[in-house]
Amino acid sequence: MATDEKLRLGVNIDHVATVRNARGGAYPDPLRAAKIAQAAGADGITAHLREDRRHISDADIEGLMEVLTVPLNFEMAATDEMQKIALRHKPHAVCIVPEKREERTTEGGLEVAREENRLAHFIAPLREAGSRVSIFIAADKRQIEAANRIGAEVIELHTGAYCDAFAEGNWKAAQQELKSLEEMSTYAHGLGLEVHAGHGLTYDTVSPVAAFPEVRELNIGHFLIGEAIFLGLEPAIKKMRGLMDTARQGVAA
Ligand code: PXP
Repeated sequence: MATDEKLRLGVNIDHVATVRNARGGAYPDPLRAAKIAQAAGADGITAHLREDRRHISDADIEGLMEVLTVPLNFEMAATDEMQKIALRHKPHAVCIVPEKREERTTEGGLEVAREENRLAHFIAPLREAGSRVSIFIAADKRQIEAANRIGAEVIELHTGAYCDAFAEGNWKAAQQELKSLEEMSTYAHGLGLEVHAGHGLTYDTVSPVAAFPEVRELNIGHFLIGEAIFLGLEPAIKKMRGLMDTARQGVAA
């Protein structure tokens, strides 16, 4: 299937805050990073307010709501505290992610199927408040169907297993993960869900995912913030944008 729809890039700025918090001061400033990302062509900014506030802070979210000219994708766990914060700010999008205190990053997708009732009630007020609700899940039919049933408009497919297999040099596993991501993006799109993807993507892994015609948005953070150390944030983002656009052209051809 050819696509004429632009693939959006959401830049996740969490790890600018990680570096800031390592010293407890004001630098580097995630808001400044967000503004540079916007100017470099980011279509949206993503920030995850974790329960333990290990990177993004409540003040960062407030600042982002004030300064951004592109949409904010507010990542959060399905807790009462986060729901209140989201309802106060009414960001463009809310992405519900699983969260464990002991994990270093969001390790897996959300178990929607097991918590269908609770999640349906949890996301309803967010949608009523005008936020697009996205659910971060593994490339798994059961989870996609459950996300659809609870009324989510968007799913974000977790690309971590693919990126991990690639990093380990396990090509067979990486290909299998890509195949699942492709099949499940087609399946979810067929149900009427908008499909996003992200986690662990790099210059080396982004192209095949960007080429899936049903994927409308990639959310990329850690690698870009790391590359910014060497290239600067603007060139790092522009290079990612270029790879995504090239992969997309291949699809349309
Ligand atoms: N999408 C979601 C839902 C995430 O939780 C994360 C990590 O916060 C990302 C995308 C970005 O992952 P990474 O920082 O590995 O690029």
